Amino acid sequence: MSGSYIEVQVEQCRQVAPAIKEFALKALDAPLPAFSPGSHVVVEMRDGQKTYRNPYSLLSDPRDPSAYRIAVRLQEQSRGGSRFMHERIAEGSRLRISPPANLFAPDWRARKHILLAGGVGITPFMSYLPELQRRNADFELHHLFRSSRTGAYDADLRQRLDGRYFAYDSARDKRCPVAELMAAQSPGTHIYICGPQSLIDAVYANAAQIGWPQEHIHVEAFAAPEPGEPFEAVLCKSGKTIQVGAEESLLEALEREHIEVPNLCRGGVCGQCVTGVRDGAIEHRDHFLSEREKSSGQCLMPCVSRAKGPKLELEI
Ligand code: FES
Repeated sequence: MSGSYIEVQVEQCRQVAPAIKEFALKALDAPLPAFSPGSHVVVEMRDGQKTYRNPYSLLSDPRDPSAYRIAVRLQEQSRGGSRFMHERIAEGSRLRISPPANLFAPDWRARKHILLAGGVGITPFMSYLPELQRRNADFELHHLFRSSRTGAYDADLRQRLDGRYFAYDSARDKRCPVAELMAAQSPGTHIYICGPQSLIDAVYANAAQIGWPQEHIHVEAFAAPEPGEPFEAVLCKSGKTIQVGAEESLLEALEREHIEVPNLCRGGVCGQCVTGVRDGAIEHRDHFLSEREKSSGQCLMPCVSRAKGPKLELEI
């Protein structure tokens, strides 16, 4: 996210599942901007010389922007951001966040909405629910989790949504019958998925089998950048060379050097950070570029993709 960040203070912090903490954020100066269901913000965390920037969905009711709530899952393989939020951020801590952006809005033309949440993937749906209920929309929430780690909001949702809530706790061997669920829907139903890639793949595989239209499938696919081999990035316009470490993304390395690249999702889906490449082999890891664009070798998404060799020359 380039441009203006908002200064916030943590008003409340609570454990909502063994691996998930929720934070309520209040603005320090001006009121927080309004947002729509499915929006996220990028949270900036400064840890000495390192700065982490992670996107988190807003959990609050969009009609009440008096405070933003986010939930952070402690990743076992954390590169630092989720660990920093869990271990170093408490009530009273100050942070900077981007203004909200929405890459996962409900499609209000749908006759029915099937929400499929895996673990901490419940978060964007928390801001859907008040609006779906206000509109008296037809919906079901299917929540897949492991109670020993990620069953956030289960009891609350059970009570709030009654027959519209379906919980699948893998610790109790409960599995979501994705194929049957999709096959039972009438035309005009949209499905929304926020969860692991295996869940997204299962939905697409079933959709292909039963002819479910692609435009009726909505995916929130934020993926933290995976580590890789270190490499050198040469910035052709300025002649500068920067080193990209194994644990950081190219985007993070550019930001460390105060080079601004527009970005929204930081997970290879929005297309905002596209950057021209003059030379060097690319390891594409995004879900935005077409196969043709990827094989042209002329651009990459620096939020997730990296060099497939020791050096990349960039058109910046
Ligand atoms: S920031 Fe969205 S694709 Fe890179």
